[in-house]
Amino acid sequence: MDLKQYVTEVQDWPRAGVNFKDITTIMDNGEAFRYATDQIVEYARKKEIDIVVGPEARGFIIGCPVAYSMGVGFAPVRKRGKLPREVIEYEYDLEYGSNILTMHNDAIKPGMRVLITDDLLATGGTIEASIKLVEQLGGIVVGLAFLIELKYLNGVERIQGYDKLSLITYES
Ligand code: PRP
Ligand code: MG
Repeated sequence: MDLKQYVTEVQDWPRAGVNFKDITTIMDNGEAFRYATDQIVEYARKKEIDIVVGPEARGFIIGCPVAYSMGVGFAPVRKRGKLPREVIEYEYDLEYGSNILTMHNDAIKPGMRVLITDDLLATGGTIEASIKLVEQLGGIVVGLAFLIELKYLNGVERIQGYDKLSLITYES
C-alpha cells in the first residue's frame, strides 16, 4: 500500500509558506490506518520491546494501537501540568521560545526496551526530548517509528545512533 496517497497536503497552513501534512486522512481510513500500524508493529517485534512511548497528542494516535496490538503498555509524554503524579521534565528550544515535556517518574523501569512513536519527524526537537526523558528513567530506546519524516528539516541529526523507521518520507 502506498501510504503517501492517504496524506493530504494543505498549502499555507498553519501559516503562509508551510505545506502541512495532514494525517487525519490516514486515520479515518480503516485499511490505511491498520496498514500503518501493522508496519510499525512488525518493526517493533524485531526489537523485542517492553513498552511504547509517545508524545502528545499525535504520538498517542500512532503509539496506542501499536501497544495494543503487541500486548505491551503505553506511557505518555505530556506537556507540563498534564500528568497528575511526580514527573521528570525536559525543556527544549522551539523556533520562538521553548517547550517543556514531562513523564511520570515511574513510567519506565530501568532496563526496559522502549519504542518511541510519533506521527512526524520534522526538526527532531520533540523526539529528542522524548528520548532524553526515557533515558533519564533508565529506559533503553531500541527504536523510533514515525508515520512521516520531512527529510529537508534534518531532524535525523538529532537522533544520531538510534534506529528509526519512517513509513513516508518527503525530500523537499
Ligand atoms: C508536531 C508533530 C510532532 C512534532 C514534530 O507536534 O506531531 O510531534 O510536531 O516536530 P519536531 O520534529 O520539529 O519536533 P505538535 O507539537 O504540533 O503537537 P501535537 O502532536 O499535539 O499536534
Ligand atoms: Mg506532536
